[in-house]
Amino acid sequence: MLEAGRIVEGVTGYTTAKVTSLHSLIYDHLLRHFGEEKARAYGEANQAAIEQIAALVQEKHIDCDFARTEAYTYTESEGEVDQIRAEVEAALKLGLPAALTDETPLPFPVKAAVRFDNQAQFHPRKYLLALARDVPGAGSHIFEDTRVVEVADGQPCLVTTEKGTITASAVIIASHFPFDDKALYASRLQSHRSYVLAVRVAGPVPRGMFISTEESSHTVREQPTGDGALLLIGGEGHKSGQGDDTIARYQRLEAWARQRFTVESVDYRWSTQDNRTVDRVPYIGRATPAAKHVYVATGFGGWGMTGSTVAGMLLRDLILGRDNPWATVYDPNRLNLQGVPALVKQGVDTARHFIGDRLPDEGPESIALGEGKVVNTQRGDVAMYKDENGALHCLSPVCAHMGCIVAWNGAEKSWDCPCHGSRYDVEGKVLHGPAVKGLEEIQEG
Ligand SMILES: Cc1cc2nc3c(=O)[nH]c(=O)nc-3n(C[C@H](O)[C@H](O)[C@H](O)COP(=O)(O)OP(=O)(O)OC[C@H]3O[C@@H](n4cnc5c(N)ncnc54)[C@H](O)[C@@H]3O)c2cc1C
Ligand code: FES
Repeated sequence: MLEAGRIVEGVTGYTTAKVTSLHSLIYDHLLRHFGEEKARAYGEANQAAIEQIAALVQEKHIDCDFARTEAYTYTESEGEVDQIRAEVEAALKLGLPAALTDETPLPFPVKAAVRFDNQAQFHPRKYLLALARDVPGAGSHIFEDTRVVEVADGQPCLVTTEKGTITASAVIIASHFPFDDKALYASRLQSHRSYVLAVRVAGPVPRGMFISTEESSHTVREQPTGDGALLLIGGEGHKSGQGDDTIARYQRLEAWARQRFTVESVDYRWSTQDNRTVDRVPYIGRATPAAKHVYVATGFGGWGMTGSTVAGMLLRDLILGRDNPWATVYDPNRLNLQGVPALVKQGVDTARHFIGDRLPDEGPESIALGEGKVVNTQRGDVAMYKDENGALHCLSPVCAHMGCIVAWNGAEKSWDCPCHGSRYDVEGKVLHGPAVKGLEEIQEG
């Protein structure tokens, strides 16, 4: 396993870790656009993933706050009740543990909800770090601080890292957004960032896992701690690098939480991002139509706990040459016409960020301490960050992945790319791929 940074410090270290096959509203969509066989395979795969995680927790005695609980997708709007009904009907048809209800453990009324029973939640770092302890040995190794820059298919495959080249009989690219893009994932994946607060509330903390149906959805989940339960509240999502005032997003999320819960304190806050595919089903399988030994697992769309576990089981079978009934629905090289409008939209949006963001008209004096801006100078556009002492840190704003212009993220103090979600720190170092190189430094003056 080759890891650019430290293991389980990527998106998975910041997830809300609901372990469920209830992925917002998905089954009615799958029935209509993929057909019953594939919709059933998707549901079965994700239910099997929950049981796989439960079995590993039990077998390896992993202390990771694993708990069985219910998952709900709810609406507060009368106009969305029909969508909820359709989802329950679709899920029941596929044999999933669904029920229609208008009662939930939430302290505010809902118009309707889908409930899935016997789902689960856990602490992802505790679970994965325990699994990782089993990796070294019997020919398996974990190499941290080892960024991969290129993968060549073959017998063996050649994996080029910043520190040297290794060989492997099969390679799985599981780097969140694939950095190796021979199959044009950049045109088929959209990176989506969202925000989480961990709050303490007065009175009992609602048990269960909740997500709303709104276009910009909110999620709620309880997390036990040694010092009482916290409530994780998420929302305010947007396309990565296009969040504008990201600090205002935390403020709006807190206002949403305070309208619905008696919030006593906001103890933690963070944001992270996940990739969506154009037809909402992850890409798990051979990385390109011609690939022989290179595989990919990406596009979990906010549901990577079961999605990645499905990937583990499915890719194991593909590598060992075994049949797997889930392979077709997850095939990364599928052609699904339903995804075409999203594909076109993604292309237009990306093109806009090669050109449209190079039009700043203010100088460095307009940058506040601790803030960043792309400034038009005589030497061209420069991404400038003014530190707390007033010193300017100047970088090329051209993303090292495919050349879009990065935007300032005030909440995280980072440069984020609006095209495929690469992120850089104020010194230009890669925080998040697909970029494998940093932003170029520009000397002042
Ligand atoms: C706010 C939020 C809440 C979420 N909540 C849930 C939830 O409740 N339930 C759920 O199922 N899912 C949830 N998700 C989705 C889930 O967290 C993700 O789908 C999942 O964590 C993605 O895992 P990953 O392994 O693909 O990416 P990561 O966890 O980011 O792992 C990828 C790793 O690859 C490394 N890497 C990148 N590039 C390279 C390279 N070139 N060379 C070597 N290593 C590299 C990175 O450093 C990183 O460690 C949520 C997502 C968000 C944004
Ligand atoms: S992430 Fe693709 S161009 Fe920046």
